Amino acid sequence: MRSIVSSTTGPEPAAPWWRDAVCYEIHPRAFADGDGDGVGDLAGAAARLDHVARLGADAVWLTPFYPSPLADGGYDIADHTAVAPDLGTEADFDALVARAHGLGLKVLIDLVPNHTSDTHPWFREALAAGPRSAARERYLFRPGRGVDGELPPNDWQSAFGGPAWTRVPAPDGGPGEWYLHLHAPEQPDLDWRHPEVVADFERILRHWLDRGVDGFRIDVAHTLFKAPGLPDAGPGQHQDILRNHLMPYHDQEELHPLFRTWRRLLDTHPAPSGAVPPEQRVMVAEAAVFEPARLARYVSPGEMQQAFNFAFLESSWDGAEMRAVIERSAASMRAVGAPVTWVLSSHDAVRPVTRYGGGPRGRRRARAAALLMLALPGAAYVYQGEELGLPQAHIPDDRLRDPLWERSGHRERGRDGCRVPLPWEGASAPYGFSTAAPDACWFPQPGDWADLTVRAQEDDPASMLALYRAALRLRRAAPVPADAVAAPEGPADGSWFAFDRAPGLRCLTNFGPEPLPLADGDEVLLASTPLDGRTVPADTTVWLRSAGGTTAIAS
Ligand code: GLC
Repeated sequence: MRSIVSSTTGPEPAAPWWRDAVCYEIHPRAFADGDGDGVGDLAGAAARLDHVARLGADAVWLTPFYPSPLADGGYDIADHTAVAPDLGTEADFDALVARAHGLGLKVLIDLVPNHTSDTHPWFREALAAGPRSAARERYLFRPGRGVDGELPPNDWQSAFGGPAWTRVPAPDGGPGEWYLHLHAPEQPDLDWRHPEVVADFERILRHWLDRGVDGFRIDVAHTLFKAPGLPDAGPGQHQDILRNHLMPYHDQEELHPLFRTWRRLLDTHPAPSGAVPPEQRVMVAEAAVFEPARLARYVSPGEMQQAFNFAFLESSWDGAEMRAVIERSAASMRAVGAPVTWVLSSHDAVRPVTRYGGGPRGRRRARAAALLMLALPGAAYVYQGEELGLPQAHIPDDRLRDPLWERSGHRERGRDGCRVPLPWEGASAPYGFSTAAPDACWFPQPGDWADLTVRAQEDDPASMLALYRAALRLRRAAPVPADAVAAPEGPADGSWFAFDRAPGLRCLTNFGPEPLPLADGDEVLLASTPLDGRTVPADTTVWLRSAGGTTAIAS
């Protein structure tokens, strides 16, 4: 087999830091509690940042820490330029940024431009001002259909189930207009054609840049603009099977000029000391756009730098499917000169250990998937607890917070099971997360996590934490050329494939069912499960120093 990294010839320009970066996602309320009230906070996060630095990450991304009634885990924001009182103060934020920068970590924060909280002053003003007022024009208020306006203005559905419209009372107390919310009713959508909305988000970007952040993760970046006239969307909304079917609230053309203005702002707004220079700032798109060529537009020149590759996260543990995702993603990103941004988990996804089947098999596959992801050329995001191999936790019904639970009529438990406080140390809950009683903690932690704590895994060379640390160390030591693209090779049935991350570092994943003998001369650098002699068992990824980049598998 030949060497599979392709790159331009000639001297390599220094690649921007984010192309091959590993960014660690912190969901603050579940990360570490600094003040003993049972809720993770910014001071707690700052105190535990050395864990992220020791892991070997390049950056952290903080999910929303802004004032919020928490109708959707903090993604319902009442004030985009303040800190939620239960998470701390602006001084705590500044201290966290300073600590991160001191440890060599860049800081990304969440920008949530699609909607506000229904407690945001703008929405309160809109409700008070009444129909056809200027205050309502910042949102999407419309009269209803039907004889008395009793039907929603169109057929759009909320991502959390049920109609995406809620009716508000008229000034006389009778039934009035409807407003649009693609998520919970407590998250009214903004009208991005309104100049004040555009201007306010520029103010918000500048505010946080002045406080030293190095970039932004752009929440539901694909939904900001809605098709003119708000036409019906038809059947199949929010169903994966139709995900390439363009909805009138998805992926509209006007997004791209907007993102270009943000990019210009980031590239030129002065940077305070400690932060990266303006031209090194990053925006990462959270865009549920599954057609790779359309997703690539978000990271085309002059727009964002990264876009989460959810197709990789959503792929089942199947070699042919994963290989196809890797090839398609790499080709479309390469066409616009952007890296692929790999992701296996987030605060919205079922934990990989559970997703890949749970138990020993799920753990084994999650380990193999991690080594596969971390070898791929491009950036990678690691969600807190992924490096510990945490499974999805069961949360009792009466503790569930995710709006999906209520809005699905208790059919979907939602995402809370991956938002359980991290276990740091100790034999029982709250495992060093807090000094509060376990019942007072953000979510209850399972009773059997003693072996999964950071402390327990620290000295165990066979632990998930040890695997992530070793992988991040080796990955850093084997940087890929800026325009390298993984081109997996292997049999058509997808039972295994291999690619070179960098000259001399080859990654091979055996999806099974048969064990694979390694070629003579290939040195094993890292393996997700112990090898049987020189044989790679099923559901295992190995990193190899290949003998001359020729072959990985003995024929
Ligand atoms: C994003 C967030 C998710 C939130 C949604 C609405 O998808 O990751 O947690 O519910 O946006 O803001």
